Amino acid sequence: MTAYGKQEIAELQEAARRHLWLHFTRMSSYTDAEIPVIVRGSGEYVYDQHGKRYLDGLAGLFVSQIGHGRTEVAQAGARQASELAYFPLWSYAHPRAIQLAERLASLAPGDLNRVFFTTSGSEAVESAWKLAKQYFKAVGQPSRYKVISRDIAYHGTSMGALAITGLAGIKEPFEPLPPGGVRVPNTNFYRAPAFVADDRAAFGQWAADEIERAILREGPDSVAAVFLEPLQNSGGCFPPPPGYFQRVREICDRYGVLLVSDEVICAFGRLGYYFGSQRYGYQPDIITFAKGVTSGYAPLGGMLVRDELMEPFVTGHASFLHGVTFAGHPVSCAVALANLDVFEKEDLLTNVRTHEGAFRATLERLHDLPIVGDIRGDGYFYGIELVKDKATRETFDDDESERLLRGFLSQALFEAGLICRADDRGDPVIQLSPPLTCGPEQFDEMEQILRSVLTEAWTKL
Ligand SMILES: Cc1ncc(COP(=O)(O)O)c(C=O)c1O
Repeated sequence: MTAYGKQEIAELQEAARRHLWLHFTRMSSYTDAEIPVIVRGSGEYVYDQHGKRYLDGLAGLFVSQIGHGRTEVAQAGARQASELAYFPLWSYAHPRAIQLAERLASLAPGDLNRVFFTTSGSEAVESAWKLAKQYFKAVGQPSRYKVISRDIAYHGTSMGALAITGLAGIKEPFEPLPPGGVRVPNTNFYRAPAFVADDRAAFGQWAADEIERAILREGPDSVAAVFLEPLQNSGGCFPPPPGYFQRVREICDRYGVLLVSDEVICAFGRLGYYFGSQRYGYQPDIITFAKGVTSGYAPLGGMLVRDELMEPFVTGHASFLHGVTFAGHPVSCAVALANLDVFEKEDLLTNVRTHEGAFRATLERLHDLPIVGDIRGDGYFYGIELVKDKATRETFDDDESERLLRGFLSQALFEAGLICRADDRGDPVIQLSPPLTCGPEQFDEMEQILRSVLTEAWTKL
């Protein structure tokens, strides 16, 4: 793989330092260190400016489902740009948005038949909340505006989505946020309260019932929607306990609250199904999606909505008073269709379902390391929780966490050739979410790199 020349590398570093602002990044970490520059990708691997290869264990950012360097998908985008690069979905339609909406509706569970496109996941979440609010006003329940979501859950960064996000640290600088965000416990069984710590089903029932308690506390007439990921990412992959979503569905039905399945990560094969709700067997009223719908070959997001939620907007003078310029961009829609063709041609969902057991078993070999507390997830989506004491499950204090994750792990894993995420927005975890094309060879590579880096991390404590 060709590396960039010395001069080009130096120029890029200088320009990056001077002009580029990295997201959620302490720019000071790069005062004396090189900013990593990824220049190309092929399959499950990406390459930096020096020509060094990395296993993309996070699919970019939970995005690159089909892997990198797929020319047929890139060409679908190029063809569309030559034919019709842009036209808005405000009052007009274009063929690729129509075809993609029809195809997504055919893949989605139940009567989720309407697609409202956005450009990102945050916009999708924002749109779902806005739809819930306008819908309830339209059907004569104007006091419903609150949204329930779970502790430590990430639902995006725009002001509305941030109000739904459950991470205090990234909300605080932007307070006051739009009112109405209400938090309930997440489904981290590893840290379940003692009275349900031995029984997953009882834990699930308790966690679901906390949603009911929140609805009653807030006043049922004020609650519009519950936003839940099928498998919660932030905090390190919390799968739903058995019966959890079935109970949540019952509660939502009882109080007339919409169930929004935020599948920005969990859709498009991450859990071995087109939609995460299909894996866990529940019917949402709205699904929000982004990321994997295009595998990152162009940006796109959106929401899939039950027919009933569209009804107030189908007749008369009413319209959903919301839109963004680039939503459902023709190039992104063409790319999404080509991406879904790859899913079908290569039967990627079957690949995930066939190999997910091997993925889990390979990661579970790491249980012999003293720093590994819990390994959890489903499909091609895992979190490894790190602990100071396996027996007591004691976690690291802020100082240790800072030294371990920021000071050592992120950099060491990258240097060892694995892109994954060391995250301490909840308890410290390593997150893995590789392209859906991966198999045993990549699982072994991940395990070996993690084993050697986590072994070294333990000696640094
Ligand atoms: C569950 C969930 N919702 C929403 C978002 C926001 O998506 P975006 O970064 O595309 O705005 C994310 C991003 O990771 C997410 O994981």
